[in-house]
Formats: sequence, structure tokens, C-alpha cells
Amino acid sequence: MQLETAFAMDTSSIKYGPGVTKEVGWDMEEQGARRVMVVTDPHLSDKEPVAVTLEALARHGIDAVLYDQASVEPTDISFKEAIHFAADGNFDGFVAVGGGSSIDTAKAANLYATHPADFMTYVNPPIGKGEPVPGPLKPLVAVPTTAGTGSETTGVAIFDFLEIKAKTGIAHRSLRPIKGVVDPNNTRSLPKMIAACTGLDQLTHALEALTALPYSQRPAPEHPKLRPAYQGANPISHIWASRAIEMISRHLVRAIEYPSDDEARGEVLLAATYAGIGFGNGGCHLPHGMSYPVSGMVRDYVPEGYPPGQPLIPHGMAVVLNAPAVFRFTAPANPEMHLYAAKLMGCDISDASVENAGEVLAGSIIEMMRKVGMPNGLRAVGYGPDDVDKLVEGTLPQHRVTKLSPRPASAEDLKQLFLNSLTLW
Ligand SMILES: [Fe+2]
Repeated sequence: MQLETAFAMDTSSIKYGPGVTKEVGWDMEEQGARRVMVVTDPHLSDKEPVAVTLEALARHGIDAVLYDQASVEPTDISFKEAIHFAADGNFDGFVAVGGGSSIDTAKAANLYATHPADFMTYVNPPIGKGEPVPGPLKPLVAVPTTAGTGSETTGVAIFDFLEIKAKTGIAHRSLRPIKGVVDPNNTRSLPKMIAACTGLDQLTHALEALTALPYSQRPAPEHPKLRPAYQGANPISHIWASRAIEMISRHLVRAIEYPSDDEARGEVLLAATYAGIGFGNGGCHLPHGMSYPVSGMVRDYVPEGYPPGQPLIPHGMAVVLNAPAVFRFTAPANPEMHLYAAKLMGCDISDASVENAGEVLAGSIIEMMRKVGMPNGLRAVGYGPDDVDKLVEGTLPQHRVTKLSPRPASAEDLKQLFLNSLTLW
């Protein structure tokens, strides 16, 4: 087998600063857009970030049509509704305002409205056909309002595939927004638990990108167009992921406790973008792969501060609950990198040995989880040992991410990882 020898850095153009949402009219005009679909979710549709966006588009004479039905946890059904809306609307541009779900919905709407196809055509294999996108899409500008998805920088759109109760996605460079408008004014009113979950999602994105299987250990693609967006750890993803881990670890607790702390909140938001560039090129691995069934199989857990009566395990929570067990497991593949990650999180590793690298990193993550009020393991969100086989079954199809684990994980390994994630402290 010939191994990969190349890596690429792909990212959206990013504009960062308090108030930059006001410039989104110009951003779309610059792309030549005259009629734009603005994608958001029902909770945000009457809030300031959307109002500022619509006003900015109107100021530049752009015809903006609001679509506020993006689902907070998108499904194939909610994607298809947005796709219909986009296909009927004859838009020449898209603006997404919201969390990863709104941005991902806009990516899917843009994709299928521009290159119509059966829904499974572009969905990741083995669930879908995973065919490459045939050409460029319409310009999409993403305005994130939660710090943590990094979706403004990636070519990935994630959704729940309802029939098989698992998350999957569509991944192709063409889906990447043309620009991310990263405005700390848009994250000021984020509820604490949402800020904590999205913050830990981005921390885990960066930790996974840093420790992923190196690109040079992946098989070389038969054609350049088949080189995956998630290439494995590489020198470029390393830089962005490292810096993101430092920034989040230093500022997340402050940003959650004091939402009016503009510096901390701004740093966390900027770090989400850095982490997005890191994992958008390097990739994620087991914590993300294992998180999809954890979210998908939720029974009655409702996190503090979320709407009652709507059971939900937020994405960032589902990811980080598996992270300590995963990093204990993957550390033997590259203990130095795991120790380096712990150091970036602020841990003193001067006395640490390579033998306990996994334990040191897991300990740093658990400490952070406790500070921001995460539940104590999968048991606290409603799972027990009897659920583990089903959780493993839901993880196995997530090839795109699990194959980037620095240490291959068999079904038996995954079972043990879920069991070890039931209670964390
Ligand atoms: Fe994530």
C-alpha cells in the first residue's frame, strides 16, 4: 500500500471582530449575490444577530428571504425541507446565522439546490454513496452565534439519519462557506450550559485533530480529488489545534461565568474558529465517532437550561463524555503528543512519564468538565451497561472519523471505552 505524502490546508476566509455582522451586506454584494436565503433556527429568528444580518443585506439592496426552520439537531427530514425551500427560491447566495446546525443546514440546502441529486448521493459512505460534489456551490457566508462548532470553516454538514438513529454527514470541500463572519457580539447572550457544551466540543475538536492518525500513515488517494477533507494530523492542523487548546483552556471558564467578559468570550469564539481549521483539515476521531449514537439514542435526558420536554444530549456533551476514556486508550500510540496536549491545557507535565500520558490528559479534561458543570459520565445522561452494545453498533458505521484514531479500535475496544465512560469521577 502506498502511503500519503501530501497535505493541504483548506479554510474559509475569516473576518473577526465585534460588530462585523453589520458588514455582511457587503460580503454578499462582493460575491455578486442579489437574492439570498438566510438560514437560522426558530429560537434565533427574532434575535439581534438575525435582525442585524437582515438589515445589513437590505442596506446593500439584496433581496433576503428568511428561512427560520433549521432544526437545532438537524435530521435528514429537516435538511430536505430546507433543500426544497432553497430549490424553489432561486437564490444566488446563502447566509447562515446560528450554531452549527443552521450553518450545516445552509450547506445542505446550497449543495442540493445547486447540484440536484438523490439525497443519498453525497452522504458519507457506507450509509450514503459519498460521491464527490461535481462543481462549486453558490456563495455561503456563515455567521456563527455559538462558540464551538467551527462549522464556518469546514466542508462538513452533520445530521441525524432518522431511520438508523445515528448521526452521519456530508463532507466535501465545496460545502465550505466562502466566509466566516465571526462576531463576539453574537455570543453574548448564550445560556451557560450551551456555552459549556459548545466550548468543550471545540476543545475536543482540537484535541482530536492534534492526536489523530498522522496524514503520512493514511493510504495515498488514487486521484487528488479523492483526498479526504479529514487528512489526519499534519503540520498545519497541528498549529491551529495547539493554539486553540491553549486559548480555550485559558478562557472557557471565565467566558461561561462572566458572559460580559468581552475578552474571554472573544478568545473562546476565535479559538473555535482555530479549532475548526485544525479539525477541518486534520480530522476528528473516536470521541466524535462515539458521540453520534450517544446523541442519537437519547431517552429522556434534558440538560439544565434547555427547553423542558425535549430530550437532548447536546453534541459537545456527547463528545466530551467519551473523551477521557478515549485518550487513555489512544495515548500508547503517541504518548508525547498526549502529554503535549495536557501541557497546552495548563497541566504541569514536568514529572509526567510517557506511561501515564493518557491518564494525565484524561485528568485535565475531567478537571475542565467539572469546572463547567458537565454530567459525570454516560450514566448521568441515562445510559447503563445494557446500552453499550447498541452504542457500539451506532459507532461502527462512522468510518470517516473512527479510521483516524491513532490506535485502531475494534468493536470490543469500543465496548470497553463506552463502559469506561459510564462514570468519570
Ligand atoms: Fe464537534
